[in-house]
Amino acid sequence: MAENNDWKRRTFLKASASALALQFVNPFSGISQNSSTSNSSKMISDTTPFTLPTRKLGTLEVSAMGFGCMSMQHGYAPRFSNEETAKVIRAAYDKGVTFFDTAINYGPFINEESVGLALSPVRDKVVIATKFGYGYDENGKNIGLNSQPGYIRKMTEGSLKRLKTDHIDLYYQHRVDPTVPIEDVVGVIKDLIKEGKVLHYGLSEVGGATIRRAHAVHPVTAVQNEYSFWTRDPEHEVLPVCQELGIGFVPWSPLGSGYLTGTITPNTPFDDKLDLRAHRARFTAEAQKHNWKLIGLLQQIGQRVYATPGQVALAWLLAKHPSVVPIPGTSNPKHIDENLNALKVTLSAADLAALEKGFAEIKVEGPRTTEALFANHDIGANLGESSKGTHGKSPLPKK
Ligand SMILES: NC(=O)c1ccc[n+]([C@@H]2O[C@H](COP(=O)([O-])OP(=O)(O)OC[C@H]3O[C@@H](n4cnc5c(N)ncnc54)[C@H](OP(=O)(O)O)[C@@H]3O)[C@@H](O)[C@H]2O)c1
Repeated sequence: MAENNDWKRRTFLKASASALALQFVNPFSGISQNSSTSNSSKMISDTTPFTLPTRKLGTLEVSAMGFGCMSMQHGYAPRFSNEETAKVIRAAYDKGVTFFDTAINYGPFINEESVGLALSPVRDKVVIATKFGYGYDENGKNIGLNSQPGYIRKMTEGSLKRLKTDHIDLYYQHRVDPTVPIEDVVGVIKDLIKEGKVLHYGLSEVGGATIRRAHAVHPVTAVQNEYSFWTRDPEHEVLPVCQELGIGFVPWSPLGSGYLTGTITPNTPFDDKLDLRAHRARFTAEAQKHNWKLIGLLQQIGQRVYATPGQVALAWLLAKHPSVVPIPGTSNPKHIDENLNALKVTLSAADLAALEKGFAEIKVEGPRTTEALFANHDIGANLGESSKGTHGKSPLPKK
């Protein structure tokens, strides 16, 4: 019975989220009307392309919100063709996004092809980030981490071809390779930078000690770790290190793989084979039910600032620090508009304090990923860990 009531309440909240979408107007949209009956969906359905503000990742200037290209072809279902994917990527560009994120591993390979297809006609107007760090057999099967210098070079040539470009703007190591000193990895990147094939580099799911070691060899432009309203792991170590060293921070899964938009329910089907959420503890019906308190909180603040829960989640990230650039992913052009409109949301100090207070009272149910994937994260990348006093997961160079 209690459960039924809870789900009734949940349905009501969902309905009121839609009502909010239809009732409130973005105060920055230029149309001012009085109170709750005001011009409806301007905030949510504002599809007018606008010049996005820019932010700096180290010395690299990018649109303040990027676009994650992965979800159409990797990690989620359904899977889209290269042509369909390129169309959505191109829609994001047409709406003002100039920062696009992909990786060799997405597909693998095909997501880079889609990015190449979409962006080669506007290549000089966009910043393309991709990632190396996994090895593949002759059938293209991922066979684990591989950041051996010669292999990185080989992978770089493939990425350049698939992306239809002669340079990668931002090249991340996808995961720390525990068999290759980070100094050797950055050494190859430095050579690629000298050759003009790479302009900037970054690290992903990395802890403070490895960031410092890499940065001492050549300045790191950006760190990309999972970070969102319900995943706080980078706050204890990684964000402070990035801010101290002037390194940009790119939160991946900034919408909590869609959960923070408030549109996922236990009735949302997750394909067992194609959708990573089918196997995530946070997406069981029980965990979703508990974690719904987060949506209520985002919605409560959203009502004040005329924003959907997803927009509040993105605005919260943007408010964390000027060097934070989220890269939400979507297959739906309407969602691109909704996500970009988060750039127009201003959260006051009181809103931010209310969000933090509310968050502290809700203990998020379920770890952020699976044991197998945690195993590839660097020391210090996960909540409750510190890399202080260690050299991280990367072995020290031989003397
Ligand atoms: N470095 C790494 O290890 C790593 C790992 C994972 C991801 N990434 C990068 O981070 C990017 C973003 O992460 P992500 O795609 O995993 O997670 P995300 O951006 O948090 O969420 C994507 C999901 O949210 C849904 N969504 C997006 N906007 C929405 C909206 N306005 N309303 C309702 N649903 C919405 C999408 O579904 P629809 O298609 O239906 O909109 C999709 O299922 C990826 O594309 C990738 O580039 C990096």
